[in-house]
Amino acid sequence: MAISLKKMGETFVAEVEGVDLSGPVNAETMAAIRQAWWDHSILVLRGQNISEAQHIDFSRHFGDLQDHTVKDWLLPAHPEILVLSNRGRGGVKPLDNGGAYWHSDMTYEEVPPMGSILHGLTVPPEGGDTLYTDMYAAYEALDDETKALIEGRTAIHSYHHRYMKMAEGGKRPAPTAKQLAQWRDTEHAIVLKHPESGRKALFVNEGFTVSIKGMEPAESEALLARLYAHAVQPEFIYAHKWRADDIVMWDNRTTMHCATPYDFSAYERTMHRTTIKGLALSQAAAA
Ligand SMILES: [Fe+2]
Repeated sequence: MAISLKKMGETFVAEVEGVDLSGPVNAETMAAIRQAWWDHSILVLRGQNISEAQHIDFSRHFGDLQDHTVKDWLLPAHPEILVLSNRGRGGVKPLDNGGAYWHSDMTYEEVPPMGSILHGLTVPPEGGDTLYTDMYAAYEALDDETKALIEGRTAIHSYHHRYMKMAEGGKRPAPTAKQLAQWRDTEHAIVLKHPESGRKALFVNEGFTVSIKGMEPAESEALLARLYAHAVQPEFIYAHKWRADDIVMWDNRTTMHCATPYDFSAYERTMHRTTIKGLALSQAAAA
């Protein structure tokens, strides 16, 4: 079965049609999906009524899977899956709209994930969209002076910082000693050179990037705020309005995302995410 692509923008988003992941998928189709993902930062596949095992099997075609540092959010029967649900599902506690700020997933890891594959199980009839921004386009649209300012610089990414913000807001329990010992800040180049495409993307995000190394705090804060505001201008954004059984898969190194609000008490929003391990970015930059 051949896939067809409906594109939004040249390389940012493509909708894949003609694929049913709930049945057997031949090698040729899988190769076409893989190629489509290398060619586009985001793929959308609608109407995929798949099991957890099928979600995991599909994800493994793109690399090894990476679990989340907070184990309470992993599906006990399939810990490769992170459960994002305001009702709690499959033995996982309810989670508020945790991703309602601009971020790329787990950039605080020494090796940030290559991508994430999100399956919408139950979605609200209004709100709870996911906005994605194109960090290739955002980088390319920077003025030359800003490009020169950030070239060769690195930024610090921190899960500890993000978690404490949520904990202080009463949205998370106090971290355990074990968690605190595990959470180490990391440092990544602000301008990421993509290992496959060779193109440059802006690689800082409001969720986890806390400062620019070697810059005065006020200057670092102002520059990061300017880069964040630049990156989320409407011309760089795709808004995904979820239908049940949508799959959205994104290149985590070239996009940021943010969930929009919805009525928590009236509606359920339950999603399953798998996360694909990436290449070390230092390796990628040298490639
Ligand atoms: Fe996320």
